[in-house]
Amino acid sequence: MTAPVSEPRFGVWANVYGTWASAHHPDDPVDASWERNLALIQRAEELGYHSTLIAQHLINPFAQDWDQLETWTATAALAAATSKIELIAAIKPLLFHPVVLAKQAANIEEISGGRLSLNVVNAWFKPEIERAGIAFPEHDDRYGYGTEWLSIVRRLLSGEVVNHEGRHFSIDGYQISPTGRFRDRPQIYVGGESEPARDLVAAQGDVWFINGQPLENVNALIDSVATRPRVGTAVRFGLAAFVIARPDAEAAQEELAYHWSLNEHDQQYLQNIVGGADEKAVMFQTFAKYPAIGTNGGTAAGLVGSYDEVAERIVEFHRAGIETFMLQFQPFEAEMERFATEVIPRVRDLSAAPVARSVVVG
Ligand SMILES: Cc1cc2nc3c(=O)[nH]c(=O)nc-3n(C[C@H](O)[C@H](O)[C@H](O)COP(=O)(O)O)c2cc1C
Repeated sequence: MTAPVSEPRFGVWANVYGTWASAHHPDDPVDASWERNLALIQRAEELGYHSTLIAQHLINPFAQDWDQLETWTATAALAAATSKIELIAAIKPLLFHPVVLAKQAANIEEISGGRLSLNVVNAWFKPEIERAGIAFPEHDDRYGYGTEWLSIVRRLLSGEVVNHEGRHFSIDGYQISPTGRFRDRPQIYVGGESEPARDLVAAQGDVWFINGQPLENVNALIDSVATRPRVGTAVRFGLAAFVIARPDAEAAQEELAYHWSLNEHDQQYLQNIVGGADEKAVMFQTFAKYPAIGTNGGTAAGLVGSYDEVAERIVEFHRAGIETFMLQFQPFEAEMERFATEVIPRVRDLSAAPVARSVVVG
């Protein structure tokens, strides 16, 4: 079976940490407030961005005393304050019982008129979980927990009456209502690069989020998931990236150098992130190979260059199978506008007919 890839879709990371790059940029003070994020996402919607990703952390990984926007309450509010944009809310299974999260998700699906997606993320930042007194299981056990957790959430969101006896949960004839007024259920994204993350998306997900990295890696990662046994429609793919686009390549490289000079002032905060990370998180092993501005691979995706170069690279990724580009910028608002004005029209001009990829369907 072949899976058609739609036209490239563009999304922006909500600024839940207050910045995705330097805390010292003179034109982008750290600001994780609800007011800033509301204005940001409403503007993204006006500019035609298709999606926003609301990442989940209860404490800010840069520093615990920095502000941090809470994902599920903010997503509910965004659902009421927007009308078109897809709202992808991240969820760490360890933090919510599956019945509670499924009910909240179903309600946001109602409020948004069918625009909620979940990004299931199996945790890497140990202090967030451990300091709350919640057990932080070893890497593959977290995926085991998350896999059982998602099987319950998925069925509840599909309107099923769920009976489940498993290692972690016992559910007795549970059903939530309403569900299914807009579509079968909300979309399920999975973020995570390890083998169990790939198994999870192939078994239960709709879209796999890949961290920003070179095209040859992305090709191999896509193949690794697209060839796994699967029931139903093929997995689709998204890519995280930090964009630096300028009228010419030289100006873009100068701007990148400026970001690296700011980055030197952020070392203490970046150490907090690395110091708190689970050493078994495959994502961090990839980051170590490709130093980057931005989180989740950031500039390692190579979206740094002239407007034409950035558009061409997006088209190359799209031809490799990436459908959704989930983007970070700094200063966020100004660069988000520039991307919408200068790069998206170039991508549209360059985009050829939709490409098909072969996948195995079990
Ligand atoms: C696009 C993307 C978004 C992510 N968002 C979050 C998030 O909001 N919160 C979080 O704790 N982890 C997030 N992650 C991290 C992963 O879920 C996972 O914990 C990490 O990749 C380590 O697992 P791994 O060993 O499978 O790579 C994200 C990953 C990706 C690719």
